[in-house]
Amino acid sequence: MAIIEKLHVHRFRNLSNQYLEPNKNINLFLGKNAQGKTNFIEALYYLGHNRSFKTTKTKDIIPFDSNLLQVGAIIDDVRVLLKKTSSKSEITINQQKAQNNSQLSQLLPTQIISPDRGFVVGGAPKLKRSYLDWGVFHIKPTLLTTYKSYNKILKNINLLLVKNNTKELEYWFSKLAYLSLDISKARLEYIDALNNTINKTHKSDKVGFFQQVGDLTMNFQNGWVKGVDPLDYDSVLYYLSTNIQSFVRLKHLACGPHKANIEYSLNRKTENHLSRGEQKTLSLVYWLVQVLLLVEKNIKPVVLIDDISSELDQQKINQTLQFLSALDVQIFITDIGNTALNFAQENIKTFQINNGIISQ
Ligand SMILES: Nc1ncnc2c1ncn2[C@@H]1O[C@H](COP(=O)(O)OP(=O)(O)OP(=O)(O)O)[C@@H](O)[C@H]1O
Ligand SMILES: [Mg+2]
Repeated sequence: MAIIEKLHVHRFRNLSNQYLEPNKNINLFLGKNAQGKTNFIEALYYLGHNRSFKTTKTKDIIPFDSNLLQVGAIIDDVRVLLKKTSSKSEITINQQKAQNNSQLSQLLPTQIISPDRGFVVGGAPKLKRSYLDWGVFHIKPTLLTTYKSYNKILKNINLLLVKNNTKELEYWFSKLAYLSLDISKARLEYIDALNNTINKTHKSDKVGFFQQVGDLTMNFQNGWVKGVDPLDYDSVLYYLSTNIQSFVRLKHLACGPHKANIEYSLNRKTENHLSRGEQKTLSLVYWLVQVLLLVEKNIKPVVLIDDISSELDQQKINQTLQFLSALDVQIFITDIGNTALNFAQENIKTFQINNGIISQ
C-alpha cells in the first residue's frame, strides 16, 4: 500500500521548496506549458526509482541555479529523503542509509503513464521489457538480483566475443543459461497472471472500458530463437555452445531474455495495424491491468499520469479515473487545463502549477 502523505520538493529542476499534502485518492495538477507539470511527475518517479524516465544525467535535473537536487516524502509513515549532487548521492529511509534502489521501489511502486516515456503498445522492445519487468519485480523482488547478475555476465560474454576469446565462453554461458531460466520463468508466470486478470476484468467490468476496447492479447517472445526451450537449461546451453561462431561474427550475443519482446494485438489486429489512438488505448488497458494485478497481490502502486487530456479523450479519462478510484490507489495527474475535465468523483484535490510554484 503506497500513499504519499507528505511531499517536499526542496530542489528539482524548476521546482523549489514546494511542500504539499496530497489527497489519498486523486490529485490533479493544472498548469500551462513549461510551468513544471512534467518536472513534478518526474520528481515523484525519481523518489520511487532514484532515476528519471527522461534522462540518465543527474546534472539535467539539478536546478540551473543550484548544485543539488533534493526531494523528500512521508510514504506510509516512512520518511524518505533523496539528496544528490552531480558527484554524490544520499538516500535515507527513516534516517537510515538506504541499502539499494529496490528498497525505494518497494516503498513507492509507481505506474507511470507519460508521453515522455512513450506508449507500451507500438513502443520499442526495450520499453516493453521495462514495463513487463516492473511488474515482475514487484511480484518477485528477488528477481532484481538475478537481472543484475544476468546483465553483468552478458557484458562479460560480449567483451569476450569482441576479443574473439572463445576459451572462457563455455563457463560464462553455463552461468547465463542458469539465470536466463529464472528470468523467463518469472516473465511467463507474470504474463499468465496478466492474461488471467484481463479475462476476469472483461467479465466483471463495471466501468465498461474493457468491453468497449475489445480483446487484448499478448504474444510473448522469450528472446531465444525457435526450438530453444527457455525453461530448459540443457536446451539453452546447447544452443549457446553450438552457435559460438555466429556470435563471434556478430560480436555480441543477439538472443536471450535481454532480447525478449511482447507483441500486442487488439481483436486479432497486430500492433502495426493499429491506429495511434488504438495503440494509446491498448497501452492504457495494459497499464490498468498491471495496476489491478498488483492491487490483487496487495501491492498498491501510486499512479502518475502526465498530460492526461493530450493523450485521452474525455470518456477515457473518466473511465480511467473511475477504474483507478475503485481500486483505491493514489493518483497524480497533470493537465494543461484547456478541456474542462468533468470528474465525477468528490475525492479529488486540485493544485495549480505556476512557474514552479504549486498552490492548492
Ligand atoms: N534543471 C533545470 N533547472 C531549472 N529549470 C529547468 C530544468 N530543467 C528544465 N527546466 C525548466 O522547467 C520548465 C518546466 O518544464 P516542464 O517539462 O515541467 O513543463 P510542463 O509544465 O510539463 O510543460 P508542457 O505542458 O509543455 O509539457 C521548463 O521551462 C524547463 O526549461
Ligand atoms: Mg509536460
